[in-house]
Amino acid sequence: MQLGIDFTDRHVVVFGGTTGINFGIADAFARQGACVTVASRKRENVDAAVNALSQHGAQVHGVVADVRDFEAVGVAFAESVAKFGAIDVLISGAAGNFLCEAKDMSSNGFKVVVDIDLVGTFHVLRQAHEHLRKPGAAVINITAPQSFVPMRFQAHASAAKAGVDQFTRVLALEWGEEGIRLNSIAPGPIDGTEGFRKLMAPTAEDREFARRQVPLQRFGTLDDIANLALFLASPYASYISGAVVPCDGGGALESVKPALEAAGKLLA
Ligand code: COA
Ligand code: NAP
Repeated sequence: MQLGIDFTDRHVVVFGGTTGINFGIADAFARQGACVTVASRKRENVDAAVNALSQHGAQVHGVVADVRDFEAVGVAFAESVAKFGAIDVLISGAAGNFLCEAKDMSSNGFKVVVDIDLVGTFHVLRQAHEHLRKPGAAVINITAPQSFVPMRFQAHASAAKAGVDQFTRVLALEWGEEGIRLNSIAPGPIDGTEGFRKLMAPTAEDREFARRQVPLQRFGTLDDIANLALFLASPYASYISGAVVPCDGGGALESVKPALEAAGKLLA
């Protein structure tokens, strides 16, 4: 079930928007009439996303760019703005992850996640700034509960996402006077996504155990996150900036160690 909020002719850019949660967000904005730009590393993902989003009759542009490449990110924005004009909504959600205990992690393994999640977010927002509508633009970073709940096997992602959330708050201070709002969404376990597959329980029994750890007794859906993104980007949220909003069925209120212990079996 999706919220109905009119984004007709608004320019929405979703970086890392070609699969999973971020594609769900791009899809929701396309259904509400937005002109949508999606960007990610792999040409096949970009083409598939553009094709799927176009089915709603939306104007869609796809760009191949790796968030680790500052210049390529700049070119992606120049192209999309030439096509659809100033950016009304920017979603930054590119991420990489894997389960690994810190003592077994290589320097490059830690660095690759920080480079994609944290430095990549800096690249996206830094290159977007000149193209954001002022006043009026809304920026949403996609983080994770690891940002505020320490999780085993997640030293790299926890550090990176905590950095993203503090970055969101700093820019809410710096860009607020230009009329730009910045917020973070921290999704809980969203069923059917790559992040869920990588981090969650491997067997049906473990999965059921993990589900019961969520206070609302269910995993999240793409619409759960997309609806929050639509709301945060809309005029209904016009006085919300610098917030980190969990969307996790209450899961981050207590330790998720049991679920992650089950996930740890993936490493055995
Ligand atoms: N356990 C331990 N180390 C791992 C690992 C794992 N499962 N997977 C990758 N690494 C290490 C590699 O060994 C390498 O370090 P090294 O050079 O010291 O050997 C380093 O991480 C980089 O790996 P590489 O495969 O070269 O990086 P990449 O840029 O091709 O891919 C990843 C980046 C690893 C994050 C990859 O998983 C990815 O592209 N993810 C995107 C999708 C995703 O994770 N979605 C979920 C989002 S929550
Ligand atoms: P996903 O499907 O793997 O989405 C990641 C997206 O980022 C893809 O479109 C991917 O496309 C792109 N991407 C990855 N590395 C990139 C790079 N270097 N440059 C540009 N684009 C890149 O994963 P997901 O599970 O839906 O996760 C989406 C977001 O939600 C992430 O920020 C994640 O941390 C967060 N999250 C997910 C969950 C969950 O349950 N799934 C929970 C908490 C938080 P390409 O491969 O084509 O580059």
